[in-house]
Amino acid sequence: MTQQRFTGKVALVTGAGRGMGRAVALTLAREGASVVVNDVQAAAAEAVAAEITAAGGRALAVAADVRDARAVDAMVARAISIFGTLDILVNNAGILGNTRPAEEIPVEEWEALMAINVTGVFNCARAVLPILKAKRSGKIVNVSSSAGRSTSTFGGAHYTTSKAAVLGLTRHLAREAAPFNINVNATAPGSMDTEMVRERASPERIEAAQRSIPLGRLGTPQDQANLVAFLCSEEASYIAGATIDLNGADLLL
Ligand SMILES: NC(=O)c1ccc[n+]([C@@H]2O[C@H](COP(=O)([O-])OP(=O)(O)OC[C@H]3O[C@@H](n4cnc5c(N)ncnc54)[C@H](O)[C@@H]3O)[C@@H](O)[C@H]2O)c1
Repeated sequence: MTQQRFTGKVALVTGAGRGMGRAVALTLAREGASVVVNDVQAAAAEAVAAEITAAGGRALAVAADVRDARAVDAMVARAISIFGTLDILVNNAGILGNTRPAEEIPVEEWEALMAINVTGVFNCARAVLPILKAKRSGKIVNVSSSAGRSTSTFGGAHYTTSKAAVLGLTRHLAREAAPFNINVNATAPGSMDTEMVRERASPERIEAAQRSIPLGRLGTPQDQANLVAFLCSEEASYIAGATIDLNGADLLL
């Protein structure tokens, strides 16, 4: 029987219309959570919410751009009006940008990465923390990257910088939230097999990355979903302010 670690819990997963966010949303729902499925792509969010509902779970699709603080506030208000509370926030939404030397990165692309990958995490945490603090309980998982620990394989300096910023934000939020029995942690996935990578890198590039990973494969969305579910569970109640690597021994330089 599937474990039911999240019965009665409500989770908000950003960027859950595809890739790792989708796997996280489906996994939390399978284990009993009601899931707010956010994505900037409305149809993608609705499709994942429909998948959860069809499997007997509870889900609400909310299209919102995480870089828009007002849209995020409205999304959280909507979640509360439908499900009554929030217990878990997974800040997964992110973009990669193009791989090119730093001096060739257009300022607009730099700003878009900071706005989505960094300010987006802040906006969602800012909207959800008062609810978790009032309950004196909750979990926040921020999706960083091995890029934030080292440098990006498929992205540029902007991606590396944005994911390093997520680690600083995670540490700071963890320290502030821990006295309220709230665990804030980050995951640092390495090269993962999702559309994000497949859209930006050639099959040859991906094949080469795969060969360089000691475990011999890219990570899967489910690998990340399993880690996030663990961090959101009570089994991880003493893990706070941590960054967990998920990279098949593709050790950081
Ligand atoms: N794929 C990898 O190798 C890898 C490795 C490490 C970390 N990550 C990180 O993991 C997270 C998920 O990556 P993925 O590979 O599943 O990506 P993906 O591109 O497959 O999915 C990301 C989802 O986020 C949504 N999104 C983008 N901008 C948004 C916004 N402003 N507001 C709301 N939703 C938005 C997209 O529409 C998409 O559905 C990202 O933060 C990414 O940076 C990915």
